[in-house]
Amino acid sequence: MMVEAGYETVAKEIIKCTRCPLHKSAIKRVIGKGSCNPKVFFIGEAPGKSENETGIPFYGRAGKKLDKMIEYMGLSEEDWMVTNTVKCHPPENRRPSTNEIECCKPFLLSQIILLNPKIIILLGNTAEKSFCPGKKLEWGVPVEHEGRTILKLYHPAALIYTSSKKEVQRAFIDKNRELWS
Ligand code: URA
Repeated sequence: MMVEAGYETVAKEIIKCTRCPLHKSAIKRVIGKGSCNPKVFFIGEAPGKSENETGIPFYGRAGKKLDKMIEYMGLSEEDWMVTNTVKCHPPENRRPSTNEIECCKPFLLSQIILLNPKIIILLGNTAEKSFCPGKKLEWGVPVEHEGRTILKLYHPAALIYTSSKKEVQRAFIDKNRELWS
């Protein structure tokens, strides 16, 4: 229903959503950033404090890391879009709960169907938990799923806290370049 109605409708539904408790403390709903015709669709975890204030995903420190990662991948502006498993900021920056992730999942799936990316990059374990609950993918190893390629990479924030992951992430990207080139 939402899918047939188009992206604008999904955005409107997200803005008025009260499916889970996160809406109560949210300042802005954080819908997505990037191209409407992306080759690569990144899924992060949840909006942080600065994303809650601006309504823009990956606006803060992790966003700078994501920008660097996208640059290293060689993607141009029209090639990618980024969103999160949940569209509202969880208080105290905690991880979104299973219930919150599930409540928000129809929005995520609608975005994927409408934007139709060839490649979905799961940025960390929460994105994996949302997109393929109960499954464990190998880091940096692509799998095919319903006509799309799914790749799990480190969340950009993990690269801030564990700098040794930077080189590993670059190796994952190098190994998979042909997917988006
Ligand atoms: N900002 C986001 O929008 N998502 C994250 O997962 C982290 C920071």
